[in-house]
Amino acid sequence: MGELMFTLATNKVSDDIINLLASSFPMTVREIEKALKNNGKEYSYKYIFKCTQELAVTNILVKKGLKYELNRKYILHLKLFAGLAAKNYKLNQNVFTEAMNSEVLNVFSVEEQEQLRKELMKIVDKHIMQKLSEWYARYYDPEHNELKHILEVGKLKGKNVLELGFGTGRITFEIVKHAKHVTAIDKDVDYVSYCENMAKERKIKNLTLKAWDIKNLAALKGQYDVIISGWSGLHYSADIETLVKNLYGKLNKNGILIIIEAYTQSEYIQILNLVRKKETDYIMKKQKFLKEALFRKFGSCQEDLIPSYYGFPSFEKLEETFKIEMHYEEGIIWTEKDTKKLQNFLKKKNNPLRVDEPPLFFICHKTSTK
Ligand SMILES: C[S@@+](CC[C@H](N)C(=O)[O-])C[C@H]1O[C@@H](n2cnc3c(N)ncnc32)[C@H](O)[C@@H]1O
Repeated sequence: MGELMFTLATNKVSDDIINLLASSFPMTVREIEKALKNNGKEYSYKYIFKCTQELAVTNILVKKGLKYELNRKYILHLKLFAGLAAKNYKLNQNVFTEAMNSEVLNVFSVEEQEQLRKELMKIVDKHIMQKLSEWYARYYDPEHNELKHILEVGKLKGKNVLELGFGTGRITFEIVKHAKHVTAIDKDVDYVSYCENMAKERKIKNLTLKAWDIKNLAALKGQYDVIISGWSGLHYSADIETLVKNLYGKLNKNGILIIIEAYTQSEYIQILNLVRKKETDYIMKKQKFLKEALFRKFGSCQEDLIPSYYGFPSFEKLEETFKIEMHYEEGIIWTEKDTKKLQNFLKKKNNPLRVDEPPLFFICHKTSTK
């Protein structure tokens, strides 16, 4: 709560007053002034008086006689509110957003409500990114078969690489260790700032991250030796011919294109299909179009199915992964019925915490400059 309250007050002195009263008995303004001074925070009596009055008007403090104290009812409300928000964000950002519009917020001014929503969304987004990162990076491909195949096919040493749809940087932060330079694009600005922070923390110098849509590939600067697209759904592009033409155009002579997509017959997709409208035929058709377009432009297209899987540490983590996938990728809210379906499916498996998801590689070599 301390952290939340800290963001509520509109100025530093009010923050200090709230934090002081959160851990002490009711105080007069003079006592507040003295206690703050003892804590090394010296403000004028007049200013402390003004801030205290304001906090009382907005119901954050209550006045009893000459003394002020934190409004316990209000804090309880906030606690409930934060609890509700924290419980719900995991599954459904919309529920969280609704909670943030709840009447508890009415105790704040319009500006404060706005500030609070922003702060809370920042916390939520950070947690969601961490969840996605956990899902992709921690549980998927524990034997690194996908990465090994990328390195084997792409031979990245000394090469300029372009990565499409980098997401939480699961592939990015591995390939930078091998390539000369990686330019990575994603249309989602949240992923860009998430990975920028990671790159900064890890002091990575040979990586350029850009918020950029793949459909604007032709306008992106630079030529590349290797282009890698990891699970970014290229087959869904509205104009596959133009996309393939642009991919070809961005490659240097002898360049390599590596596209990784989902294998429609995987166990992972079988589980998704328990819950959602089955789209397997549609995805297969789209992947076939992409492959044909690659054949036409590059003259050949190698297809490799590499064994890999999700290894979950518990049923809870497994279920959470599917819930997040359903919500973020498909906009479907997970219900109790879905939990039952999942449990029934897993009962029939030898190793219920291992879910097969072999990456499907399309690999093309640019041998001419047509
Ligand atoms: C399933 S995630 C895969 C992330 C990462 N490559 C990995 O394998 O862990 C797909 C990513 O592609 C990005 N993406 C999808 N369509 C895109 C587009 N048209 N332009 C840029 N990025 C796109 C999404 O924002 C998302 O980050």
